[in-house]
Amino acid sequence: MKQFLFKTLEIYRPFQKTMGVMFLFMIVMQIFNLVSPYLYGRIIDGVVSQQPIQQVLFIAFMAFMVYATQELLGYLSDQYELKYFDFAVPRHIKVRTLNKFFTFSIGQHNNQNSGVKRSVITRGEHSLNSLAFKFAYEIIPMVLQVLFTVVALLYINWILGSIVLFGVVVFVAITIYLNIILREEMTAVRDLWVENDKEQSELIQNVELVQVNVQEKRVIDEYSQSYETIGDRSKILWGQYTFFSSLRGLLVVIVRFAVIAIGIWFVYEGKYTPGYLVIFLTWSSNAFSRLGNFGNTHRQALELYSSVQKYYEMIDVPCDIVMAKHPISPTIEGKIEFKNVSFRYPARNGVDKSEDTKKDVTSEEPALLRDALTGVNLIVEPGQRVAFVGHSGAGKSTLAQMIIRAFDPVEGQILIDGHDLRELDLGYYRSHIGMVEQDVQLFDNTLRYNIAFGRPEEVSDAEFDEVSRLASIEQFRHRLEKGFDTLIGEKGVKLSGGERQRVGIARALIKHPKILIFDEATSSLDTENEQLIRQSIEQASQGRTTIIIAHRLSTIRDADKIFVMGDGNVVGAGTHEELMHSCKPYQNLIGKQMVSIV
Ligand SMILES: Nc1ncnc2c1ncn2[C@@H]1O[C@H](COP(=O)(O)OP(=O)(O)OP(=O)(O)O)[C@@H](O)[C@H]1O
Ligand SMILES: [Mg+2]
Repeated sequence: MKQFLFKTLEIYRPFQKTMGVMFLFMIVMQIFNLVSPYLYGRIIDGVVSQQPIQQVLFIAFMAFMVYATQELLGYLSDQYELKYFDFAVPRHIKVRTLNKFFTFSIGQHNNQNSGVKRSVITRGEHSLNSLAFKFAYEIIPMVLQVLFTVVALLYINWILGSIVLFGVVVFVAITIYLNIILREEMTAVRDLWVENDKEQSELIQNVELVQVNVQEKRVIDEYSQSYETIGDRSKILWGQYTFFSSLRGLLVVIVRFAVIAIGIWFVYEGKYTPGYLVIFLTWSSNAFSRLGNFGNTHRQALELYSSVQKYYEMIDVPCDIVMAKHPISPTIEGKIEFKNVSFRYPARNGVDKSEDTKKDVTSEEPALLRDALTGVNLIVEPGQRVAFVGHSGAGKSTLAQMIIRAFDPVEGQILIDGHDLRELDLGYYRSHIGMVEQDVQLFDNTLRYNIAFGRPEEVSDAEFDEVSRLASIEQFRHRLEKGFDTLIGEKGVKLSGGERQRVGIARALIKHPKILIFDEATSSLDTENEQLIRQSIEQASQGRTTIIIAHRLSTIRDADKIFVMGDGNVVGAGTHEELMHSCKPYQNLIGKQMVSIV
C-alpha cells in the first residue's frame, strides 16, 4: 500500500502544481459550503427578530457573493478537469507505459500473453487516471467537508459535534473493516476478469481459425459460460459489500436524526436561535449526504485500486537483462563466440504471481525439463556465412535469440569481437544486426514504412530499389497498387507469407547490418522463390557475418560452415561435404527431412 501510494504520487509528480492549486480551490469551496448555510441561519434570525431590513439584505447579498464565487471556482475546476484529467494525465500515463514497456528484454515480452498484457494495461491506465480523478473531485472534497463540518460543530456546540464525530468514526471503521475482509476476494475476482479479457481478445485474434474449424458456437458458449461464472462470483462479492454498505447508510440516518432531535431540543430550551437549527441541520445533512455517497465511491475506488496495482505489478518490474554500468560501443566486425553457453527458459508467468491468488488462476506453466542450450561452444568469424540445422526444438531459434541478447545465458559467455555481449551498449549493438524471423512482424502501414523501420534517417529511393532487388521484392511490388506506398494491412495480411518474409529481409538489409540472422526465412517460399531469396541472401551476406537457420539443404549447402544442433548442443560442425562424411546426426537429418526437397 505504501509502495502503491509512493508510485502513484511519483507518476503524478509533474502535475504537483496543478494538484496544489486544486487543493486550495477545494479548501475555499468547502469553507464556503459552511458559510452559506451560516448566512441563511443569520437571515432567518434577522427576519424573526425583526432586525433592520438593510442589515438582513446585506447578509443576503453576502450569501449571493458566496454562491457566485463558488460558481466561479466550479468553472475553474471544470477547466482543470478538461485540461488535465481528459488529456494531459492520460497522455503522461500512456507514454510512461510505453517507456517502461520498451525497457523489458525481448524474452520478458515473449513470456507474457499479449491478451493479458493488453487488458492489464488498458484497465490499469484508465484506472490510474480515474483514481486520481476520484480523489480530486470526490474523496478529498468529501474528507474536507466532513472535517470542516465536525470542527465547526464542535466549536459551536460540542455535543452535536461529538455525535457527528462519533458517526464519522464508526463509518470509517466499517469501511476499513470491509476493505480488509473483502480484499482477497476482490483481487481474485479482478484476476479472473483479466483472464476473461484475455479469452475474448484471443478469440478476436484467432477469428479465422475459429471460423475455419466451425467452432463459433463452442467458443462463444465457453466464453459466455466463463463470463457468467466470474459474474456470479462478482455478484456474491459485491452483494456482501452492499450489505455492509447499507449498514453504513443506516448509521448515517440514525446520526442525522440524532442531530435534528437534539438541535430541536436546544432551540426549545432557548439555547440557540431557530437560525442555528437551520445551520446545524444544513451542515450535518450536507456532510452526511456526501458521506452517504461514499459507499459507491469507495467501491469504485477499490476496483480502480486493484486494477492499478495489477498494472504496476506488470509494468514496474525490472528488466531481466542487466545493462552494463559503462557500456562500450566498439566498431562491430561481426565475430561471434559462444563459450560454454547454457540457457534455460524461465517458467512462464501466469496471470498473477501473488501468493494469495495462486490457487485461483493458472499461475505457472511447467518449465522445460531440460535446458534449451547446454554448454554451447562455437565461433563464427567476421564475414563468415554459417548455417544451423537440427531437429525441431533443438535450440536453433534460442541460439539466434541469444545473439540479439533477448536473454542472457544462465551460464557461460557470448563474445562479440572479443567483448562480452553484456558489456556492449545494447542499442548500438542491435543497430548492427539484421534479423529475419519466420513470422515477420509488420505494422499496418505502408510497405515503405515497414521496410525503413530500422532506419531513423531518410532512405533514398535508390536505396529502396537496391534492397527491393536484393530481397526480391521487385517481383511483387508492381502488383501493389501504390508500390512502396501501399498499405499492407494488419500484420501484413494483404501480402502472402513469402512476400512478408521478403519485406522482413529488406527491412534487415536496409540497416546495412554487420550481422545478419535468418531464422527459417525461406521456409514459407516455394522452390522458385526460395532460389531467388537464396541468391539474395548470398548477395546480402557479402562482407557480413550471416547466420542461416534452415531446414532445406539447398539453403544451407553453400554455407562456409554448418553447425548441427541436437537437444541444446552443437553435435557437429563443418562444411556439407565434411559433415556428410563424418557426422551421423547430419546424415540422419539430410536423410529424413531434406532429400525430398532438394
Ligand atoms: N519462450 C519459451 N519458453 C519456454 N520454452 C521455450 C520457449 N521457446 C522455446 N522453448 C523450448 O526451447 C527448446 C528450443 O526451442 P527452439 O525454438 O530454440 O527450437 P528450434 O531448434 O528453433 O526449433 P524449430 O526448428 O522447430 O524452430 C524447445 O524445446 C522449446 O520447447
Ligand atoms: Mg526455430
